[in-house]
Parts: sequence; structure tokens; C-alpha cells
Amino acid sequence: MKDLFEKIYKDKGPLGKWASQAEGYFVFPKLEGQISNRMKFQGKDVITWSINDYLGLANHPEVRKVDAEAGAAYGSAYPMGARMMSGHTALHEQLQEELAAFVNKEAAYLLNFGYQGMVSTIDALVGKDDIIVYDVDAHACIIDGVRLHMGKRFTYKHNDVESLEKNLERATKMAEQTGGGILVISEGVFGMRGEQGRLKEIAALKKKFNFRFLVDDAHGFGTLGKTGAGAGEEQGVQDDIDVYFATFAKSMAATGAFIAADKEIIDYLKYNLRSQMFAKSLQMQLVVGALKRLDMLRSMPELKNNLWTIVNALQSGLKERGFDIGTTQSCVTPVFLNGSIPEAMALVRDLRENYGIFCSIVVYPVVPKGIILLRMIPTATHTLEDVEVTLNAFSAIRSRLENGTYKRLSAAVAAAMGE
Ligand SMILES: Cc1ncc(COP(=O)(O)O)c(C=O)c1O
Repeated sequence: MKDLFEKIYKDKGPLGKWASQAEGYFVFPKLEGQISNRMKFQGKDVITWSINDYLGLANHPEVRKVDAEAGAAYGSAYPMGARMMSGHTALHEQLQEELAAFVNKEAAYLLNFGYQGMVSTIDALVGKDDIIVYDVDAHACIIDGVRLHMGKRFTYKHNDVESLEKNLERATKMAEQTGGGILVISEGVFGMRGEQGRLKEIAALKKKFNFRFLVDDAHGFGTLGKTGAGAGEEQGVQDDIDVYFATFAKSMAATGAFIAADKEIIDYLKYNLRSQMFAKSLQMQLVVGALKRLDMLRSMPELKNNLWTIVNALQSGLKERGFDIGTTQSCVTPVFLNGSIPEAMALVRDLRENYGIFCSIVVYPVVPKGIILLRMIPTATHTLEDVEVTLNAFSAIRSRLENGTYKRLSAAVAAAMGE
């Protein structure tokens, strides 16, 4: 019989296998200093374009003050126990009511983490006779939620409404046999390339098909829509979203998440979300901190305006310089370049070491072979000067990529390593 760990000794997994070359630099980098547009990486100052602190709340003095006061008042234990048992408080309820009002839904329920909360939401919404139809490029938390489903599921081509329609036809036929219903799942904003989910067109399909619509709006909440209520508000279809989900991990610069829907649906979910029923309640410091952040989202539109000034300057500057930024319709700013993985590594090193620019890099298999995706997250704390410095750096690294500098550098490194 095999030792369970044998496969682990042999194969570290699709990402883990790169650990020796990548860890500490390309993955698990240690950014130091207060969360902001400028931090330190390996002792050097860098402009950070990889932190989802869209509205700049992470280190806002008012937020820091409330977080510190709540920490002092409640410590990090309070309340103890799951919501259902002993972890429920009036402030948890207040936050839920304020969140529901903000996203224009009857009720909301808090989740300790978005990831687990989404897994449980999907799990609670569908039974074995129900059918899930979801975007093939969905976030891992949606995929894991679907994995728990005992019944049928269909994927549709990424953000392709025609493909969704075809799959809804199949799902409808199947649901007529099983006697179940249909759940469609999309993201409000797809976090890798920044395109918005086609919520309006998906919602329009409700005229033709009978389904309920769940939207993960992690990147849209706080950044899109007139009031910041997200992609549903932006596209004028918030009412057609049956279950709205957002995390506190991005615009709210904290930890935690919530779902919002009709009261009867939330009443059901709060008794059936296993990851919340059997886990400790969201700690009070986070609840108090979220109330403060939400208040700022409502009362300080300048935060979102500042964010979009930077987004527009960065995205139009990149386009003017001929960069391919794909089809983003959000703050997420991808820059697509052509090159191999070794070239991508040399390029990112150059960007960080010589130009002081820190952004995330995505390569095959997340994007096709030969494509380098530099993913940038603008925030309200960035300045137009940061944008200018970054645009100049990008022009410089593109020239070096095109004139073969990174090919030579990566070949030299490979030779030095005896490869
Ligand atoms: C689209 C999307 N959904 C869900 C999550 C998970 O949220 P959390 O970090 O609160 O677990 C994330 C990442 O934060 C995300 O990007």
C-alpha cells in the first residue's frame, strides 16, 4: 500500500512546482510598510499596483482610529461562538441592515470569509434536483461551491450570453425531468481581466427562462454604480439579481463578506449556511470597522471619484502608448504583452528592481502560452505622478522586451544555473 504522502513528495502541484524559482519574489512576496500606493519590497521603495484597497480605506486615519478603538473595546475574541449559538450581537444586525439598504435589497447576512460564504451559499441554494449554470471562468470559490452540488451543472463560455442561452435550454429540459430549479452564477467583475459580467443581458434571459441569479460582485462593490452598490447598479439590474454577494476584502479593506437578497431568502440562508452555522461569528472589531467603512462609502463619494481619476489616467495613458489592456470595464487593469515565462520573470525583476514598480504577473496556464499579463489594481491612494512614473516604466520595459533584452537576460540566468 502507498504512503498517502508519496504523491506530495513527488509532485508539489501546478503552482507549488515553481516554488524554488518563484517563492518570495513572484509568489509569497513580502511587501512591507503601511498599506498604500508606496511600500517597500526587499528594502526598496516600490509603487504598489497589486493591492485591492480600491478606495484607500486600509490605512485611512479615520478607519485606523475606529479599528484601534474597536480592538481596544472588544479584543479579538468577542463575540464567542457561532451566530446561532452565542455569537450574535445587535451590531451584527445593524451592519446587515445597513449593507442591505446600501445594495438595495431587503435583507443581508454576514459571512466570515467570502470564499467559504460563497461555497455555502451555493450549497444551501441548490438541492440534488436543481441545476447550476455558471461562467466557465468563475472564481475558485464558485467552483468549489459547485463541486459540493450533488446534481447536474453546466458551464457556459466565458461571459458569452449565447452560450449561456444554449445551456439554459439544456438545463431547462433537464429540470423538467428532475423537477428542480435553475441557479445561474456570474461575477459582477471578473477579477483577472476586469470585464464586467454581462448581468443586464443575463437578467434579460429571465423573460425566456425560469432561473434564479447569483452574482459575486467582489470587485464591483464600492467601485461601480452611482452609489458604489456595484455592477448590478452600474448596469441597472440590481433588482434582477436574486442573491447578491460581496466581500469586505477589496473596497472595504477588511475581512468578512455578505450576501443580500429578499428577506425570506436570507431568513432561509441564515439557518442553512453551513460555513456560518458551524463557525465562529465575525469578530466585533471587523463588524465595527465595516460599519465605519460603509459609512465612508456612503458619505465620501470623493473616494470613488479619486479612484476613477487614477483608473482613467492609467487606462487611457496605457492605451495612448499603444498597450493592449484587453476589454476591461472596471478598475482592474490588465496589460497584455508577448513573451515566454523566463522573459516574463526577467521583465518583472527589471520593473521591480530598476523602475520601482510592483504589480502582479500572470502567465500560462492562467493565460495562453506566450502571453504575459501584468495585472494592475489602481486605488484612490495613487497619484497622477505614480501613473506617469508607471507609464514611463512600462514604455521602457516594452522596448527592452521587444529588443530581446529579457530573452538574453533569462538565457544568461539559465546558463549560470547550469540549465
Ligand atoms: C471574485 C471573488 N470572490 C470571492 C472572493 C473571496 O473573498 P474573501 O477574500 O472574503 O474570502 C474573492 C477574493 O477575495 C474574489 O476575488
